[in-house]
Amino acid sequence: MGRMTSPHSSAGTPARAVRKAVVPAAGLGTRFLPATKATPKEMLPVVDKPAIQYVVEEAAAAGLDDILMVTGRHKRAIEDHFDSAFELEQALAAKGDAVRLDAVRDPARLAGIHHIRQGEPLGLGHAVLCARRHVGDQPFAVLLGDDLIDPRETLLSRMLDVRDRHGGSVIALMKVAPEQIHLYGCAAVETTGEDDVVRVTGLVEKPSRRDAPSSYAVIGRYVLEPAVFDTLERTPPGRGGEIQLTDALRELATSGTVHGVVFDGLRYDTGDKADYLRTVVRLACDRDDLGPEFVAWLKEFVAALDGGTVGEHSRPAA
Ligand code: UTP
Repeated sequence: MGRMTSPHSSAGTPARAVRKAVVPAAGLGTRFLPATKATPKEMLPVVDKPAIQYVVEEAAAAGLDDILMVTGRHKRAIEDHFDSAFELEQALAAKGDAVRLDAVRDPARLAGIHHIRQGEPLGLGHAVLCARRHVGDQPFAVLLGDDLIDPRETLLSRMLDVRDRHGGSVIALMKVAPEQIHLYGCAAVETTGEDDVVRVTGLVEKPSRRDAPSSYAVIGRYVLEPAVFDTLERTPPGRGGEIQLTDALRELATSGTVHGVVFDGLRYDTGDKADYLRTVVRLACDRDDLGPEFVAWLKEFVAALDGGTVGEHSRPAA
């Protein structure tokens, strides 16, 4: 089995205060139109699994066994993917195709999976607020359904450790180039005694390069205290007319404890076309089953690009 394909079980993971994860997947995905006209961007395949399956595998690997998907108008595709597929399973069983049968069954076995609908895409903050009744009065994780952390990384477990030690909320931060910061939420931070942990003192959503308080961008993993729901209820629509999670977190950061875990590993934004392509190429190269042949082709292709003969290269042999 390739390194990128193994679903994890929570067996052996120590019990934690945080058991539930919320996966917002109700955005319009306009950056990826027309592919996302009738398919959620979270269902776009990354090699042979939809992006959101990697995200659910990551939550399960960190010991979170209750996962709530916040879905929008394309609810059906996501629900079906994490459900059993009786006819397909029967056909594969009849053929004795155990490998594909497992691949079909795996998504539904990862965790207890629940769904809730965000009637209108009123923003990430609103999507999180939709999870209030399901989450209740416990801390919970949020993993964005189109934001993929390489399966070899342990960011979420590290964030849960920090939350166990410090309480409050924990967000994931990544250093980005100054010309990229306007694409992200940006954190003002103070150092702590630990290299990869900072205290968050302020947050700005998509600041200009000049107004950015640091080069720390907020990426799509959060461990939140339930107090965030009251804050979200009070949060008016912000940038783009959407209820921004960043605005609610700013309030928590000024009145309570928000820590940031600084991540310098591999992360992919599969909602962005160029990053999506990089993700597929990178993860395909890493696969034991596909990698060797694909890498050999890729090397030839790049050599042909360099030599200006790519048209000839891609033509089938006579
Ligand atoms: P994005 O800002 O990347 O999603 O939200 P988007 O609005 O769909 O993207 P573009 O810019 O139009 O291409 C980050 C995450 O939050 C979810 C998205 O599905 C994505 O996983 N989201 C966003 C919601 O669930 N609801 C919303 O109202 C907005």
